[in-house]
Amino acid sequence: MGINVATLQERRQKIIDQLAEGSMAVILSGNPITRTGDQFHDFVVWRNFFYLTNIDRANFALVLIKSTVGVREWLFIDEVSEREEKWSGHRMKQPEASALSGIKEADIYGMADLNKQLGSVMMNEGIKHGYFDLERLSYNQLDTEQLVFAKAFQAQYPFLKLHNLYGTLANMRQVKSVEEVAHIRTAIEKTRVGIEAMMKASQPGLFEYEIEAHYDFHAKLGGVKEKAFHTIAAAGANATILHYDTNDSQTKAGDLILFDLGCAWHHYAADISRTFPVNGQFTPRQKAIYQSVLDVEKAVIEKVKPGVKMSELNQLARDLLTRKCRELGLIGDDDDDVLNYYYHSIGHSLGLDTHDVGGREYVLEPGMVITIEPGLYISEESIGVRIEDDILVTEDGHENLSIAIMKEIEEIEAFMAK
Ligand code: GLY
Ligand code: MN
Ligand code: MN
Repeated sequence: MGINVATLQERRQKIIDQLAEGSMAVILSGNPITRTGDQFHDFVVWRNFFYLTNIDRANFALVLIKSTVGVREWLFIDEVSEREEKWSGHRMKQPEASALSGIKEADIYGMADLNKQLGSVMMNEGIKHGYFDLERLSYNQLDTEQLVFAKAFQAQYPFLKLHNLYGTLANMRQVKSVEEVAHIRTAIEKTRVGIEAMMKASQPGLFEYEIEAHYDFHAKLGGVKEKAFHTIAAAGANATILHYDTNDSQTKAGDLILFDLGCAWHHYAADISRTFPVNGQFTPRQKAIYQSVLDVEKAVIEKVKPGVKMSELNQLARDLLTRKCRELGLIGDDDDDVLNYYYHSIGHSLGLDTHDVGGREYVLEPGMVITIEPGLYISEESIGVRIEDDILVTEDGHENLSIAIMKEIEEIEAFMAK
């Protein structure tokens, strides 16, 4: 089951409440991007469209209008002929789109009419404000479909004042409902099964992708249609490269292997890191390093509760890892040298995107889900360890949603010895 219709209606109402009089808001579902020749990349629904409609189909649009005529919610859907359906399969029609989104069938139109209908509203209803999802991650980033649409629309109506809906949506998305958390729990559970299968299959001499294949197989077997992000399977020194994801090196006895991966469920992501010895047994040095990261991970998770700032968790992680690096003989008196071994932040919010909305600095509130993922990356010893769990902020503290995925040294060794 997706998200229930009453919740979607509440979400859309919250957006409508924030629109100025004389407004229209348009959010597109997006389209698949050309890969090469006549092939396309897998379609990835624009998350804010999905969040407001529960529909993950290409070439749809949600339109919200607040004008002298009243408030309306319109959905525009991709329409194809019966002949085209014989090639590309069943397409979502009005009744199904209405049942999923809670938008009345009478308010669902064909996408081909989008511009004509918006033009008519512009002409007849005194629209002065256009709300679009205008998020841009960096100056040089290619325009998203949302930006392309907003720019083209404003070119036709230069008096239209553009507003960015992204911030409003981000604030809403950051706090998860019970249903959303349930989807994250399922994504984590599917991920757990895959991780345990890899631990069972692991042995020196296998290539990283061969071990990864057991995760892929079990995810698929569990009905997972989507990975939240590209799996990192990094043995030995590869694990010190944060975004290593070629996964094509051969493992050897004595390697630790770091996996950072996650299944998605109804597009809600799991984001888990686990590190284990390829041959099932930690060396004493690996144990010391691994236990250091684990101690820090647990200590930071312990501090997760409403009112705490992400910057406080970041500082705590850095202070604790600095102490651990000193105990491990990695650094001397200069605290900044920890940056040679720990060079990312402690976590991020998690949801419909793996690096979910909300940026990097915010105060924790009940319903937020964040990752806690300290690591140590020691290239001169060919050891990288990261341990990452997904944590729900509760009214009075936190719940570790991924607690069932083993991470204690004895547990890992016993499990892999079986
Ligand atoms: N897998 C990406 C991250 O852990 O942030
Ligand atoms: Mn991760
Ligand atoms: Mn993460």
